[in-house]
Amino acid sequence: MTQDEMKKAAAVAALECVPHGGIIGVGTGSTANHFIDALATIKGRIDGAVASSVATAERLTKHGIPVVDLNEAGDLALYVDGADEATVHRALIKGGGGALTREKIVAAASRTFVCIADEGKLVDVLGRFPLPVEVIPMARSLVARAIVALGGEPVLRPGFQTDNGNVILDVHGLKILDPVALEERLNQITGVVTNGLFARRGADVLLLGTAHGVRRLP
Ligand code: A5P
Repeated sequence: MTQDEMKKAAAVAALECVPHGGIIGVGTGSTANHFIDALATIKGRIDGAVASSVATAERLTKHGIPVVDLNEAGDLALYVDGADEATVHRALIKGGGGALTREKIVAAASRTFVCIADEGKLVDVLGRFPLPVEVIPMARSLVARAIVALGGEPVLRPGFQTDNGNVILDVHGLKILDPVALEERLNQITGVVTNGLFARRGADVLLLGTAHGVRRLP
């Protein structure tokens, strides 16, 4: 089974979590794209979706799934999204696609966050995948120096601008033993918009595609 087939299996398994009626949140990336394609087959079940990125909004629209502004939607029953790394405690690194800020907003607005991924994303300790940090452009150097002081090696994502007009620093060299503490610490740096640690509000359910079927945590 390829990695993409495992992503797709996790995405299809998440359909079981989709409520009858209401609006759901939908994430960004290749695994979320599989979920959108699968969601299209049951699109009559929901009233619409809040998108975590421009790319996701476009894909939803292409499938005829109404895209709703979060301010109009209120609380969401469900958010489904992928991850770059995940632990068994369901703390995540996200933002490989650069959509971390809107993803964190939609996750915060959702009662249940179902994370879908291939089993290769499961790690003992977060940090091998460079941690994305979205930064206001004029604060890039200031934030980079503060991250170096914390022991990280920030690298500006070349030629990339987020949907919010900001830049991303990908932070290498971190061994994240206390993801909640680091998430809060990074949030305190002036100029940081969001960091890609989803630990204070991690996933409620992790669906991992494996060669032997979909593994569900917890
Ligand atoms: C997008 O900004 C990310 O948070 C994605 O959820 C993450 O990068 C996972 O992407 P894939 O599903 O493409 O592996």
